Amino acid sequence: MSGKNYKIAVIAGDGTGPEVTKEAVKVLEAASKKHGFTMQMENFDWGGERYLRTGNVLPEDAEKTLRRHDSILLGAIGHPDVKPGILEKGILLKLRFDLDQYINLRPVKLYPGVETPLAGKKPEHIDYVVVRENSGGLYTGIGGISMKGTPNEVAVQSMVYNRHQVERCLRYSFDLVCKRHSQKSPWKGLSEKDVKEGKIGQLTLCGKTNVLTFVYDLWERAFYEIAREYPQVKTDYCHVDATCMWMVKNPEWFDVIVTGNMFGDIITDLGAITQGGMGIAAGGNINPHGLSMFEPIGGSAPKYTGLGVINPLAAICSAAMMLDVLGEDKAAKNIEKSVEFVTGNKMKSMAAGKMGYSTSQVGDLVVENL
Ligand code: IPM
Ligand code: MN
Repeated sequence: MSGKNYKIAVIAGDGTGPEVTKEAVKVLEAASKKHGFTMQMENFDWGGERYLRTGNVLPEDAEKTLRRHDSILLGAIGHPDVKPGILEKGILLKLRFDLDQYINLRPVKLYPGVETPLAGKKPEHIDYVVVRENSGGLYTGIGGISMKGTPNEVAVQSMVYNRHQVERCLRYSFDLVCKRHSQKSPWKGLSEKDVKEGKIGQLTLCGKTNVLTFVYDLWERAFYEIAREYPQVKTDYCHVDATCMWMVKNPEWFDVIVTGNMFGDIITDLGAITQGGMGIAAGGNINPHGLSMFEPIGGSAPKYTGLGVINPLAAICSAAMMLDVLGEDKAAKNIEKSVEFVTGNKMKSMAAGKMGYSTSQVGDLVVENL
């Protein structure tokens, strides 16, 4: 019972964004009543429709407006009538960068009753978190094209990281391992020997030190230097290609994975499909000392728009993550438990149109079981 009041900016966005966001807000309102805090939602119509109408992706004072809020809930960005890149760069990436949301937190968790394409894997095998660095790398946008349209045209896009960016992301990841586990209940993937040596969990650095010998050399050196401050965390290194293989074959080997922006983007889509698909994959763009933004990692799903068949659980789990980051961890856990009940006992599938319920009925089920 924190008694606090949170101001939440809601950017429902494009396609099915508004439908899933509506359910997330419904669940947030129910959870806040139950746990003794209040939320004041303010809606923003930023997205493809507004762009097509006005020619602007974001209002000039967007950042200033958002900074008056405690957190941001985002539905989806992407419109079939807008050229790819404009909205993604102009809204999503711009906000991540301007608000310095340098962590992209993407749990890969198989909920009970959810079908995974990984043969023989159960919820106890698929339960890890990917920390995707969210402020640098190939997404920095440094590069260019010269001699465009000629046979000699050259294109360069640089993977850029500075030590500070790498260190803050690694520290967050080591702290996350400590938050997930304790001496009393260490990560179950550890060996008896590890536990005897005082380890409580594991952080895997996912890189490509055999080829990207500058950028991932920086990551690797920083990783092992910072690891000395966390003797309770077992360290592990895995090249990105091998990471993809193990995520399919032995997902139980992972506890927390930390990686750069581009690799993180790619492996989290793989992770999402192993946990049952985009309908259930949640994410958060986090500035641990500032304003964060929570979004389901799936897109705007134009072909399902307006039909009431899209799965809102990814948005609902993102909202739970928002509560956890705001400090309402009991309410966050409560929502997660309710989602577990609903996937385990009610829903037929995570796929749009096959859930056995409509979008809003799934939201209602989560509310009923809080
Ligand atoms: C994601 C998306 C975005 C990204 C796109 C839409 C810019 O794929 O959130 O994973 O690449 O980060
Ligand atoms: Mn992506």
